[in-house]
Amino acid sequence: MREIIEPFRIKVVEPIAFTTKEEREQILHEAHFNPFLIHADKVLIDLLTDSGTSAMSAAQWAALNAGDESYAGSKSFFRFEEKVQEITGFKHIIPVHQGRAAEKLLFSILGGEGKRIPNNNHFDTTRANIEFTGASADDLVVDEAKDFDSTAPFKGNMDLSKLDAYIERYGADSIPCIMLTATNNAGGGQPVSMENIRAVSERARAHGIPFFLDACRFAENAYFIKLREPGYADKSPKEIAQEMFSYCDGATMSLKKDGFGNIGGFLALNDDNLAEQSRNLLILIEGFPTYGGMAGRDLEALAVGLDEVLDEAYLEYRLACTRYLVSRLLERGVRVVQPPGGHAVYVDAQAFYPHIPPSQYPAQRLVVELYREGGIRGVEIGSVMFGRRDAQTGEEQPADNELVRLALPRRVYTQAHANYVVEVFEGLLQQRHEAKGLRIVKQSPMLRHFTAWFDEVQ
Ligand SMILES: Cc1ncc(COP(=O)(O)O)c(C=O)c1O
Repeated sequence: MREIIEPFRIKVVEPIAFTTKEEREQILHEAHFNPFLIHADKVLIDLLTDSGTSAMSAAQWAALNAGDESYAGSKSFFRFEEKVQEITGFKHIIPVHQGRAAEKLLFSILGGEGKRIPNNNHFDTTRANIEFTGASADDLVVDEAKDFDSTAPFKGNMDLSKLDAYIERYGADSIPCIMLTATNNAGGGQPVSMENIRAVSERARAHGIPFFLDACRFAENAYFIKLREPGYADKSPKEIAQEMFSYCDGATMSLKKDGFGNIGGFLALNDDNLAEQSRNLLILIEGFPTYGGMAGRDLEALAVGLDEVLDEAYLEYRLACTRYLVSRLLERGVRVVQPPGGHAVYVDAQAFYPHIPPSQYPAQRLVVELYREGGIRGVEIGSVMFGRRDAQTGEEQPADNELVRLALPRRVYTQAHANYVVEVFEGLLQQRHEAKGLRIVKQSPMLRHFTAWFDEVQ
């Protein structure tokens, strides 16, 4: 069969909100042109994030009932721990309420002034948690990642010559760990090859530097390896994932992605000392080590979700969804990052609005227009998210790219919803030359994109 169908049927449904264009105009003004500030019940198709937005399966809902809510020693924790260990092979599994809490634990211990932590591309919460400790967060992704039109299979790879030069320049003593994000969210959702994971691991081990995977989308990454890397076609996604983790000393994970959870995460480690320090901090900020910020029922649902996410039929459908949207948009002349990544489609907003300079946030404009035109919510990944103020001149340095990310929640929307998104883009293409820029009128010092207020440039 050529058609890749949804490998599930729908048992429970949730209505979505149809609003008029006039209503959306009003809503945008009230939200200060920041879709993060729009109430979700006013959004028709919510592509803001794939995080925590998955539809749980019947088996996951059933597992919730088995939740053991004991404060200490809950059997739900041991079920969860066993499942995470089966896939990752790590000795210590520390549950947290979401990915950034794992980052907070890890970098509170490993970070600090004078330290430097490389990654292919740091996700925004990872970067913020590192920088909050006074350490520097550096991106060493391969140059191909910057070429949106390149269809290279593993554009999430870390550039090994950049990594060698980095270790040489700063010295292993100032690098408390090397991170690798699979798939690379901030770099277009592109996968990392097994060869690259192995090579980074070899370098880390040669210099005695711990190596951590940011494993939010490990299953999608594993399936890309199966499809694209020689030697893996006959392996199961689980075997591939197990190999990926085997090269690492630990992992941070938001289970709101490839855990099929609405909440949850873990920090996994082999090092006893680091694990003990992490658990001490966990008790301070998250909870006791056998629940760490989650309810027993969450732990149960996640243990089931981690099995389901490695199902081949699911992963085949998952990657087909992104591929479908990418190819429909390309056919209509919308420039998107290629090849299709795992969880999201990244639209080049600068190409869409070439007349709006980065200082007037073209990607924020596209996000606003998607909502105005069709009630669709996406997220800006451009100068609002990554623009930097120059310490000397006070001027803002734009981001390298002006992208809009349309993230696809897992098992939530159908092909008809995707077709509607394409139709909204067709409408926006007609009006693209009339679009104006935006300016920020209020912002917070860190992670400003979540709460900033905007006004339209006249
Ligand atoms: C690659 C990556 N790392 C870390 C995080 C942080 O996870 P959380 O939102 O659960 O705190 C995310 C969330 O989107 C992510 O995509």
